[in-house]
Amino acid sequence: MKTKFPKDFWWGAATSGPQSEGRFNKQHANVFDYWYEVEPEAFYNQVGPDTASNFYNSFKEDIRLMKEIGLNSVRTSIQWTRLIDNLEEGTLNEDGVRFYNEVIDEFLANGIRPVINLHHFDLPVELYHKYGGWESKHVVELFVKFAKQCFTLYGDRITDWFTFNEPMVIVDGQYLYQFHYPKVVDGKKAVQVAYNIQLASAKAIQAFRKINKNKESRIGTILNLTPSYPASAEKEDLAAAEFANLWLNQMFLDASINGAFPEKLISYLTRDGVIWEATAEELAIIQANTIDVLGVNFYHPHRVSRPSVSSDSLAVDWMPNKYYDEYDMPGRRMNVDKGWEIYPQALYDIAINIRDNYGNIDWFVSENGMGVSREERYLNKEGMIEDDYRIQFIQEHLYWLAKGIEEGSNCFGYHLWTPIDCWSWGNAYRNRYGFISTNIHTQVKTIKKSGYWIKQVALENEVTF
Ligand code: NOJ
Repeated sequence: MKTKFPKDFWWGAATSGPQSEGRFNKQHANVFDYWYEVEPEAFYNQVGPDTASNFYNSFKEDIRLMKEIGLNSVRTSIQWTRLIDNLEEGTLNEDGVRFYNEVIDEFLANGIRPVINLHHFDLPVELYHKYGGWESKHVVELFVKFAKQCFTLYGDRITDWFTFNEPMVIVDGQYLYQFHYPKVVDGKKAVQVAYNIQLASAKAIQAFRKINKNKESRIGTILNLTPSYPASAEKEDLAAAEFANLWLNQMFLDASINGAFPEKLISYLTRDGVIWEATAEELAIIQANTIDVLGVNFYHPHRVSRPSVSSDSLAVDWMPNKYYDEYDMPGRRMNVDKGWEIYPQALYDIAINIRDNYGNIDWFVSENGMGVSREERYLNKEGMIEDDYRIQFIQEHLYWLAKGIEEGSNCFGYHLWTPIDCWSWGNAYRNRYGFISTNIHTQVKTIKKSGYWIKQVALENEVTF
């Protein structure tokens, strides 16, 4: 069976500045650059972001490879730590300005739509040490200065802007579950950080609407959605899934699209004494500056059951898990390397949820993908990685996405994480995700089988299931 996708569908892939460029010539260190300096053992094989996939030096060749595999759109991010010279004033670093100008022009010259995101976990570390990073509303203002510079410098060529990538991962990783620096465990701070990031996004959108002169341009945010399914139909499990959805998905979705945080979530957080500090003026800015377009990163769902400990015994140190536990559903399909469940049908559920509960806003899959370790196992005699598992993974997800689109969901694109194997946080280069492989010693890049497969798909705008 063949399925056509909508006209002008985005077939592409996503990366980020901190994961591809390398540290070369950067004025400031971000939280990951710093963390690697002080604790290299926190990274797989002690490989840090210093070289990454060398995009700073090899962007022309990399973009040529992206063109060769037929991608019509690619997302990357502008690094705050590269573009800005004085973080307080928001003045420019000339080499940073030049670099992103050249990158954008190179994408356009190759017929690829550059999609730009402004924050991909890469807070300048000085702003954490001085102000507590996203705990501080002053940092919100500094981010808006950086965002304004981006809109002014590149708004003549960029039509698709995004403010944040996966804000929930900042909350989870930096303030609850300790997988990102500064590894704080503090529920109250976590809740304030979530609010401040939403405020920063809304304020950047407000600035964009003042500065932008191109009627075609639009702005949005990128959320990692993890639909949370209850372990049973019993009311305790349903309540657990309801809270998990509120916290993990609806908090940023509602605020970004409908302009207000979910009432029910607010009442839980208020009752628990961890509600954010917000002013009426800020809430009005959040309400007035909703997104034009949504990016959805989807990797895996959550299976959720009632919490194993009674909620009141946890009331002092607040954690969202006081309301739910992760449940190891027997028989679920797992990706052995990452330990994530593979459940493509969730993409259909997301499509229908956006159609029915979020005004059927224009959206695209801004990341989906499969991380696999030791991919050299799959090298063929010609030196190409035969990643049939990745092709199957994408195909299954596209099947469910196509069904959501047929039923009226306004999805306009699909981006895989990632075009070229890149550095991934604590995972460094362990699990590979790309259409194109990177040899981290020689920086030689080679198209994988999935790269040729997506080329055909993009050319025909059609997938065979
Ligand atoms: C989501 C993030 O946006 C990206 O930075 C990360 O490397 C991928 N997921 C893979 O885990």
